[in-house]
Amino acid sequence: MADDNKRRLQPVERRTFLRYGLIGSVSAGLGGFALSALGFLWPRPGDELTGEVPIGPAAEIAAEIDADRAPYRVPEGGLSIVRWDPGNAAAERNYGPDHAFDGGVGLMALFTQACPHLGCAVPWCQSSQWFECPCHGSRYNRYGEWTGGPAPRGLDRYASFIEDGLFVVDFGNLITGPARTANALEQSPEGPSCVDA
Ligand code: FES
Repeated sequence: MADDNKRRLQPVERRTFLRYGLIGSVSAGLGGFALSALGFLWPRPGDELTGEVPIGPAAEIAAEIDADRAPYRVPEGGLSIVRWDPGNAAAERNYGPDHAFDGGVGLMALFTQACPHLGCAVPWCQSSQWFECPCHGSRYNRYGEWTGGPAPRGLDRYASFIEDGLFVVDFGNLITGPARTANALEQSPEGPSCVDA
């Protein structure tokens, strides 16, 4: 009879179930560990850029940032270029030595490809005018200064300068982000946040 030929499904023994469950969780854990280790070894944006790289005319980059009310992106370098104000005494003291300014044009090259918390890319939020990390909710103002969340500091950035009108980023000099207490910009969010707190 057809029913006799059907393979009977046997209930899985509790001990067998527990054994396979344990093997599954250990394998998943090891797999996750291997993937994160590979992530560290895998080339990231910016890894292929070395030395001093001219990005473009500083005045044009600044004008584009103003027009878009958004950072000028350099994806191959993992960069978000923002304007900063050399006329702000605290900003000049904190950032003047390592970040480009020429007359009224100040630019800084924030490394937004890796959040200082656990390394997620940190996109720009147009409505709040802040950088907001989608992974655990760290936030940074337009200068990349920490404003909230679990990150231990502000966004890292590359040293930069302006030469012959060109904005140049020094990919050989990655600067650790400013301490949590740095708040030269004193910028409140300018609209709704893009990520949950
Ligand atoms: S990786 Fe950005 S907040 Fe955790």
